[in-house]
Amino acid sequence: MQVAIIGTGNMGSGLASILAQSTHEVTIGSRDMAKAATLASQIGHGVVGGDIEAAVKMADIVILAIPFPFAEETLKAAGDLSKKILIDISNPITPDFQGLLVGHTTSAAEEIQKLAPQAKVVKAFNTIFAQLLPSEARAGKTLQVFVAADNADAKAEVSTLVQSLGFDAIDAGPLSNSRFIEPIGEMNIHFGYFLGWGPVSAPMWPRG
Ligand SMILES: NC(=O)c1ccc[n+]([C@@H]2O[C@H](COP(=O)([O-])OP(=O)(O)OC[C@H]3O[C@@H](n4cnc5c(N)ncnc54)[C@H](OP(=O)(O)O)[C@@H]3O)[C@@H](O)[C@H]2O)c1
Repeated sequence: MQVAIIGTGNMGSGLASILAQSTHEVTIGSRDMAKAATLASQIGHGVVGGDIEAAVKMADIVILAIPFPFAEETLKAAGDLSKKILIDISNPITPDFQGLLVGHTTSAAEEIQKLAPQAKVVKAFNTIFAQLLPSEARAGKTLQVFVAADNADAKAEVSTLVQSLGFDAIDAGPLSNSRFIEPIGEMNIHFGYFLGWGPVSAPMWPRG
């Protein structure tokens, strides 16, 4: 698949690396083109870095790897998102990481869908710490990634992408279920950073 990553931070660089090491063609978009180009050359595997709009133009799937408060300005820079799948990985956390900025009656994913009505927004990866993205960090474990979306085809495509990276894609229902998935991400942050576990935990939902 042709995937664009917007953002060169912990999640953006980690996702770009594992996608590129898999079978995917990756472009990286940044506010700072030089930063994207440097990251792309560090990753190798044919990854291309540039400005946000150029990275998005080349992709079918766009991963928004930026903090939720910057979604609006970032999506303005992304250009035409019609027919694109837009993966929202965010946990809309407060500056002290201890609470959520939105919840109960909406979610970051739903707000992002409002900001990009032409895109097919899919929630995924918000409960996976950046430290657990490299496959060697997950050795022996298949972690669950909760995938929520309103568009069935987009959900299926993102689930295939998730599986290709060695995670178990769990159908988490409609996009509005992000209202429940995002607080689980916040709880994971508490385990990782405030309750002494370190960023190595991931929520798993046993079945059967
Ligand atoms: N870290 C985790 O373990 C983790 C786990 C699950 C979900 N998430 C979610 O993933 C998203 C990214 O998290 P992260 O840990 O990768 O964050 P990060 O390391 O702080 O990187 C965020 C990136 O956002 C971009 N950005 C765009 N506009 C920005 C602005 N106005 N100010 C600052 N940065 C801006 C920057 O990339 P450019 O400079 O290239 O534009 C920056 O590198 C967040 O929504 C977070 O909730 C994180």
